[in-house]
Amino acid sequence: MKTIGILTSGGDAPGMNAAIRAVVRTGIFNKMKVMAVKQGYNGLINGDIDEMNLSSVADIIHRGGTIIRTARSEEFMTEKGLKKALNVIDVFGIDGLIILGGDGSFRGAQTLNERGIACVGIPCTIDNDMGYTDYTIGFFTAVETVVDAISKIRDTSASHGRANIIEVMGRRCGDIALYSGMAGGAESIIVPEEELDVDKVCKRLIQGRNRGKLHSIIILAEGVGNAYELSKSIEEKTDIETRVTILGHIQRGGTPTAFDRIVASRMGFKAVELLMEGKSGVAVGIKENKIYSIPLEEALNVEKAFDEKMFDIARVLSI
Ligand code: F6P
Repeated sequence: MKTIGILTSGGDAPGMNAAIRAVVRTGIFNKMKVMAVKQGYNGLINGDIDEMNLSSVADIIHRGGTIIRTARSEEFMTEKGLKKALNVIDVFGIDGLIILGGDGSFRGAQTLNERGIACVGIPCTIDNDMGYTDYTIGFFTAVETVVDAISKIRDTSASHGRANIIEVMGRRCGDIALYSGMAGGAESIIVPEEELDVDKVCKRLIQGRNRGKLHSIIILAEGVGNAYELSKSIEEKTDIETRVTILGHIQRGGTPTAFDRIVASRMGFKAVELLMEGKSGVAVGIKENKIYSIPLEEALNVEKAFDEKMFDIARVLSI
């Protein structure tokens, strides 16, 4: 393996830069050329590729986003786009690719792998929605961002004696809501994995108010329902003034936590090691603090398990 490429694809996640740094430095340490493919799979199609050196990844470990940019490429999903990408890989002499992203990006890696390109995936998404790995890069940073927002909203919520709904990301996965809700001491956590019972949410609010609670925080995972409609129905049923905050893309930015940087560094190192060992079509993951690899196809088929136990504990602790 003489030349490896790296690309980031799909939604960005804090910690991607730390992983890029690890791949570039591990590759160069092992006498390889490392090429950065810009804007995800689009860069493979357009040949938007630059050689990296040690200093191109200096001063990025603490930065959110991705210095090599990202995209969700529609063209790559077509046979024509894929053929262009394969040509570019050939022209640039890329022997193996490291792909950072979520399940959509891994599917792209799998397609390339089926066409004979050695690919290794690194899980990067704030949603933590990939079942084969305990954590995805960016998740804990997003949780920190939400917890920080909860603390701020708690101040104003208590001053006014209101309920506040905070909508967080995670299309089909309630992990951001669950972890931030537990860390932020939320009164209710609403996730796609559990059926929403508005009356139960209201009952907790009323019981809390009767006990003298000054405020209530409700964490709502996006996709479960409309935050404004929920707020209206809470006000109607409880008479408690309710406000909505949709955190949105603020959750995708910011300086990565130490944990995300460390996992990203370990995974980036492992990905290069795997390519050097001649492994292909694999995803890097973390299980019980060990970095390991698993075939991409299997990784894509492991269903994400929701932590029911943790959900129950959060419910008990917020009575
Ligand atoms: O990165 C995952 C995610 O943040 C989802 O939770 C969210 O729904 C989605 O990306 C939004 O991404 P974009 O606005 O970039 O399409």
